[in-house]
Amino acid sequence: MIREMQAAIFDLDGVIVDTAKYHYLAWKRLAYALGFDFTERDNERLKGVSRQHSLEILLEIGQQSLNEEEKQTYAAMKNDWYVEYIQQLHTNEILPGVTDYIEKIRNRGVKTAIGSASKNTPLILERLGIRKMFDSVVDGNKVSKAKPDPEVFLRAAAEIKVIPQACVVFEDAEAGIEAALRAGMGAVGIGRPASLIEADAVIEGIWQLLIL
Ligand code: BG6
Ligand code: MG
Repeated sequence: MIREMQAAIFDLDGVIVDTAKYHYLAWKRLAYALGFDFTERDNERLKGVSRQHSLEILLEIGQQSLNEEEKQTYAAMKNDWYVEYIQQLHTNEILPGVTDYIEKIRNRGVKTAIGSASKNTPLILERLGIRKMFDSVVDGNKVSKAKPDPEVFLRAAAEIKVIPQACVVFEDAEAGIEAALRAGMGAVGIGRPASLIEADAVIEGIWQLLIL
């Protein structure tokens, strides 16, 4: 990855803020309501995946089948629980180094954007008071094709008027890394190298970029 970063596009859940645990709690509660267990290991399969697709995976794990109307009802139920949990979201759940790093690159003239699958992105940014740190926010309310489709990142790049080749995406999900690469962008994985093998580089968290 040899490129001058003119824009940094951040995934939200698991990169900017530690919301993965709340998604997990809500999906686990739904699994219980449907009569089966859902482990943290199962939850790995839902990272970066849209709400509807996550429900499909959950049902596959529990070997259940529902009709379309029931799926809508259960997806809404999960979201109500999730929204209830994130009402309590606190700024100390912003992941280490995130605000310092974003401030640092913005001072250097790098544009910043969010590229997330979550339809709850506006609520989360508002609760954390960090909306103004991003020139553009593209989320699940604005795109029709979920990651690994590159739509979310391409739209973010278009909104901030930076060519894809000058954008670097920060992502914790495999589907997001694939989306970034398909968009022609650099891809920095956040997490364990073993699960993000396609990424150009993998770090444990944004905080590491402050000490490099
Ligand atoms: C992604 C999360 O960012 O957003 C997934 O990693 C989640 O776990 C997806 O399912 C959709 O989020 P929401 O808030 O629209 O249900
Ligand atoms: Mg994520």
